[in-house]
Amino acid sequence: MSSDAVSDSRADENEQEVQGGGNETLSKRQRKKLLKQQQWEEQRDLRKQKRKERKQQRKLEKQAQAEDRTDCPDRKRFRKEAEPSPLRLVIDCSFDNLMMLKDVKKLHKQIQRCYAENRRAAHPVQFYITSHGGQLKQNMDEINKGWVNWKDVHIKSEHFHEVLSKEDLVYLTSDSPNILQELDEAKAYVIGGLVDHNHHKGISFKRAKELGIAHAQLPLGSFVKMNSRKVLAVNHVFEIMLAYLEKRDWQEAFFTVLPQRKGAIPVGQENKQEQDEDEDEEDSDTCEPGTQNNEDTKDQRNGKQEEHETQQNQSDSCERTAV
Ligand SMILES: C[S@@+](CC[C@H](N)C(=O)[O-])C[C@H]1O[C@@H](n2cnc3c(N)ncnc32)[C@H](O)[C@@H]1O
Repeated sequence: MSSDAVSDSRADENEQEVQGGGNETLSKRQRKKLLKQQQWEEQRDLRKQKRKERKQQRKLEKQAQAEDRTDCPDRKRFRKEAEPSPLRLVIDCSFDNLMMLKDVKKLHKQIQRCYAENRRAAHPVQFYITSHGGQLKQNMDEINKGWVNWKDVHIKSEHFHEVLSKEDLVYLTSDSPNILQELDEAKAYVIGGLVDHNHHKGISFKRAKELGIAHAQLPLGSFVKMNSRKVLAVNHVFEIMLAYLEKRDWQEAFFTVLPQRKGAIPVGQENKQEQDEDEDEEDSDTCEPGTQNNEDTKDQRNGKQEEHETQQNQSDSCERTAV
């Protein structure tokens, strides 16, 4: 200790006498102590108030947690009661280099939707995402790294044919001549992870044939009146498969998943729908199944080339209405 410090502390020790508030003479130390005590007393109410506030805050937090738990009883109940299906559903992301970034971002959202739907499904499938890499992975890392904690999903950088056995695979593609009737839960159904506005027409069918694996299209034509091509977005195909596993009825599955505004009409009810649409022309920019709009009439007038263009536009807007 320095000599200055020693003398300071001595000065304190010697208790330089100072006159207190009352008759007593108080030392500096005693005065400090008294002051502290007074402050402590003065702040008693403040402390009490703060304690009250903290208690109230804790109560509110507990209440919010309890509400969170009761907010989504279905979800919890579903997950508890969910009976997983052995069926494997694969999103094949090997088309990454064929997409522009804006479409990769759409695919990312569609995959997020598939994941969420599978988590709350009555019969969740064994979900695979294969050939995960490139722009998609980069986008998933940048936008929301949460995917690394996703549960019950096999995310693989390998191609699906390296992960699953060839005999089990069925590529889902609207260009296949085979129409899916029943789902075989021992199989692995593959969905092309592609948002391409049909610029790569028939690419998944071609891929299936190249790999020598089975392929099939959803039986849309038998249940939904289609005006044009039957190309659906990735998440719609995924959700239809989940809905079928739950309802065991294609028509119900299609109409649970395909939004009404897309003009999906059950086969046999077309006339009624046409009548409704005449009354509501504003809704004529719908796409895909059952759409009856001005563009179609124009196509019929102007021949094949324009029909093709319109179909492409319809396909564009279908993908826009997907997630
Ligand atoms: C937006 S589509 C991609 C369209 C792409 N031009 C093609 O030929 O695959 C995304 C994927 O959904 C699946 N898909 C879409 N419509 C389907 C249908 N009607 N039946 C079966 N699979 C379908 C296919 O696996 C397809 O690769």
